[in-house]
Amino acid sequence: MSEANKGKFYITTPIYYPSDRLHIGHTYCTVATDTMARYKRMQGYDVMFLTGTDEHGQKIEDKAREAGKTPQQFVDDIVTGPRGVLDLWKLMNISNDRFIRTTDDYHVAAIQKIFKKMYENGDIYKGKYTGKYCKPCESFWTESQLVDGKCPDCGREVQDAEEEAYFFRLSKYADKIQDLLENTDFLEPRSRVHEMVNNFIKPGLEDLCVSRTSFTWGVPVDFDPGHVVYVWIDALFNYTTALGLYNDKYNDYDKFWPADVHFVGKEIVRFHSIIWPSMLMSMGMPLPKKVFGHGWLLLDGGKMSKSKGNVVDPYILAEMFGVDALRFFLLRTFPFGSDGNFSNELLIQTINTDLANDLGNIVSRTVAMAQKYFGGTLPAEQVADDALDANLIEMVSGLRDRYEAQMEKYAFQNALSEVFNVISRANKYIDENAPWVLARDEANKPRLARVLYNLLETIRICGALLLPFMPATSAEIMKRIGADRYDWDSLNQYGLLPAAATVTDGPNLFPRVDMDKALAELEEAEAAARKAALPALEIEPYAEEQVDFDTFCKSDLRAVKVKDCQPVKKSNKLLKFTLDDGTGTDRQILSGIAMYYKPEDLIGKTLVAITNLPPRKMMGQESCGMLLSAVHTEQGEEKLNLIMVSDAIPAGAKLC
Ligand code: MSP
Repeated sequence: MSEANKGKFYITTPIYYPSDRLHIGHTYCTVATDTMARYKRMQGYDVMFLTGTDEHGQKIEDKAREAGKTPQQFVDDIVTGPRGVLDLWKLMNISNDRFIRTTDDYHVAAIQKIFKKMYENGDIYKGKYTGKYCKPCESFWTESQLVDGKCPDCGREVQDAEEEAYFFRLSKYADKIQDLLENTDFLEPRSRVHEMVNNFIKPGLEDLCVSRTSFTWGVPVDFDPGHVVYVWIDALFNYTTALGLYNDKYNDYDKFWPADVHFVGKEIVRFHSIIWPSMLMSMGMPLPKKVFGHGWLLLDGGKMSKSKGNVVDPYILAEMFGVDALRFFLLRTFPFGSDGNFSNELLIQTINTDLANDLGNIVSRTVAMAQKYFGGTLPAEQVADDALDANLIEMVSGLRDRYEAQMEKYAFQNALSEVFNVISRANKYIDENAPWVLARDEANKPRLARVLYNLLETIRICGALLLPFMPATSAEIMKRIGADRYDWDSLNQYGLLPAAATVTDGPNLFPRVDMDKALAELEEAEAAARKAALPALEIEPYAEEQVDFDTFCKSDLRAVKVKDCQPVKKSNKLLKFTLDDGTGTDRQILSGIAMYYKPEDLIGKTLVAITNLPPRKMMGQESCGMLLSAVHTEQGEEKLNLIMVSDAIPAGAKLC
């Protein structure tokens, strides 16, 4: 049941750059946005929640080439392929209303019109670009913006760049943007305002290069063939083309624009709080109401990467711990505006403390007691005790408003603290009232019923307020206590459950996680996933250098028969072969293949040897020649097969 419409709420996440698979850091922002969207829906807003993928640019073009795919195939695999972006958002229960891909035709055509409009109004002009370009970030920098000669965003090497290009008159908007940032609450948290003004605006905003000619994977500038639109123009305007700006695919622009909030990671605040509003001003369009720059999830204080010993694959984490536990952890543990250090241990601790101990416990204890003492339905005759009940009831009654105050500030962590303070209080309330003692005396049953009722009311309000964070868990909790109202008005009314409330049992919501076991399992799952991601079969690259025929013919290749084969003492690699090479004298060859074959399995086989190599000593024993084998790699593992030929070939036969 939803409340009367409170108006519209348009919220966006950055559209993800599909040059690689998503990690938990990317998932963080989308989960936060989903939580806010669900909260606003619960409040009664008509919500538009947009996410998508930002699919153009040189990096994608390069990566696709490396992978031997077209750029479109490459992004399709990561976006729509198995365990891709769309699958992940489905798994994570992301409730986006729309998904935009910047390669969608309607978007491409709209970007061409937008670019042309800014050109026609004089804000885009043609010039020559000389400067520095960071390929991974798709960012242009001036010399003065570099930090130690490297990209100020990612710290990587930048390249010299010079080409004919179009420029956007960013400098023209510097004063207006400074005013917007300093004198309104357009950008939050406040600390990000100082960063933008001091690092970018005060040193002087230079005009921005907005077209490229050195690659083709982008939106073509339709009035100047050879130029493609700078990927950030293409990307930023997604927030409006996805509503129908300059296209017929959608027609919600008038209803939803301007956005109520763009959630973005801190490294792209510059694009959203300086470049984006300048372009909107140039287009004569209203500005979004707010940009919120959230912090990063870090690993050991640094950038997230797959090689730092923690599992960061959201699929593995969600499959092992559950989608809701993962969603909850992300918003409960890290303040949204600041960086936070991610670790698998922290995730497991949070599950055990908040979800298994506190939330899981209050639900299972209360339901179990209602069943044990009253067969699942409380009697309507109940006795309140102000001295014991007042504090809990007061906390529960004001919870929705305290939670709302935090959610309105995007302070997810604090909103959850409000809920969990009440849950802790309720667990304490159980101990204070000792229902098991009350149950011993029939005369105390009405009091016991009231104690359980107060607990159920607490669970109802907490359970509903958890919906934006843990949608499936919230629904399950509500089902168990027989509640079904999520509408905002019902959440600050204490006493809405009927006195004769009925509960339903169910399995443990959040079983305790055994830390050591789970960490070991995670490692295993990640190793398996890495292996599965490796190419199924790889062969050595072919030699580029040619060998002349006469040189090749100098190699004396012969069929040899294995008379004996033994491991070499103190070596786990070498096998010692005694071979019949047709000469009447045994030939000894040592070969490093002990990990691939059992010696006894090779006796009697006909193999191929190069016999005219100079003899070599290995582990003190002489080796006269080399046995031929075939090598390849399967799922990252080297495989070796000795070349075995038909036993009909006599020992000593020459191979040519
Ligand atoms: N394509 C641009 C956004 C264009 S929006 C018009 C982009 N894409 S991205 O894939 O590189 O990043 C998407 C979001 O994930 C960004 O907001 C970025 O900050 C966020 N994160 C990437 N790694 C992150 C962490 N380790 N922690 C938190 N968020 C992180 O930027």
